[in-house]
Amino acid sequence: MTAAVLTGAGSALPATFDQDAVWEGFFAQHYAGVRAARRIFTGSGVRTRHAVANPADEDLTGWGTGARMARYIEEALPLGKQAVAGALDAAGLAPGDVGLFAVATCTGYATPGLDIRLASDLGMPAGLERLLVGHMGCYAAIPGLSAAGDYVAARGRPAVLLCCELTSLHVQPARTALDQVVAHALFSDAAAAVVLEPGAGRGRRLAGVVARTDPSTADHMTWDVTDLGFRMGLSPRVPDVLARHVGGVVDELLTGAGLRVEDVAGWAVHPGGPRILDVVRDQLGLAESDMAASRQVLAEHGNCSSATVLLVLDELADVDGPVVAMAFGPGLTLYAALLLPA
Ligand code: COA
Repeated sequence: MTAAVLTGAGSALPATFDQDAVWEGFFAQHYAGVRAARRIFTGSGVRTRHAVANPADEDLTGWGTGARMARYIEEALPLGKQAVAGALDAAGLAPGDVGLFAVATCTGYATPGLDIRLASDLGMPAGLERLLVGHMGCYAAIPGLSAAGDYVAARGRPAVLLCCELTSLHVQPARTALDQVVAHALFSDAAAAVVLEPGAGRGRRLAGVVARTDPSTADHMTWDVTDLGFRMGLSPRVPDVLARHVGGVVDELLTGAGLRVEDVAGWAVHPGGPRILDVVRDQLGLAESDMAASRQVLAEHGNCSSATVLLVLDELADVDGPVVAMAFGPGLTLYAALLLPA
């Protein structure tokens, strides 16, 4: 079968803000009286993040969901356009060459959607196939890659995947629940896109995907649509559940390709938080240096939900050899992809 090869990547990041400045400028007051809040912000592993709506400048906590969704479309269009144009440019393709355009997001909805509006704005063909992946959460890039890869392999035409997340539009009214503090300390905004092409002789070939969902932990991570935006529910047990499953997922992924953990040259692990990276490192017996790209993305960009793993992959662009990309989210679900040199 024709291989689907990642040949280009692009991203767009809204305004950068400093973690300490947003604490001082907004969250210190928002979480006044929540003893652990300061410690969670400091221990988040995030130094700078991005936001289309920085709470220190603009307080959206009282905004209804309709206003947040209208703002989403307004902000997501230029970011998505920049990320997709950058990825196409890097691949040396024009918008007219694209056969499938897949968009993943869990932070904003509209009809006509981002996929339709961007396709028309960028000048993609009228006969373009589209796929909108909604509400899967932080791991959506990997099922997106899997579906786009299958399309490319089966139809022999290029596909583009865009992950666009504007988590800053979902800042919640002050509550003492610590999972809200954790979410507001980690999450960030970004758009990231990749191009997949059939049988290209450069780039990374999508060589396998493994998914694992543990429905007994479905209540550990939730993303509820409320009248005041989307609200995250996050159990402190999430890292322990990942610890139970990550070894089996990676084993299945690598065994399928005749590889071992030691053969992997680069690890693009979704930095859901510092403890997530600690758990993956320890369970797989990796060195701290294997987590460097993921920690750097967390420090510089925060957890940008589904866009994050694509940003980490980009950090590993110069790594020669097999790369494993992994992301986690509601279900609880682990998704992993193996990328081999084309
Ligand atoms: N919900 C509620 N409380 C949480 C929590 C959560 N998801 N995660 C941590 N806490 C609490 C801890 O129980 C602890 O409370 P305590 O002081 O009353 O004991 C406090 O927050 C500090 O957590 P701890 O992990 O001990 O220290 P830390 O400050 O070094 O790290 C986090 C805090 C949140 C950055 C870290 O725990 C982490 O990375 N967690 C994973 C986040 C996650 O699940 N992300 C999404 C996955 S895709």
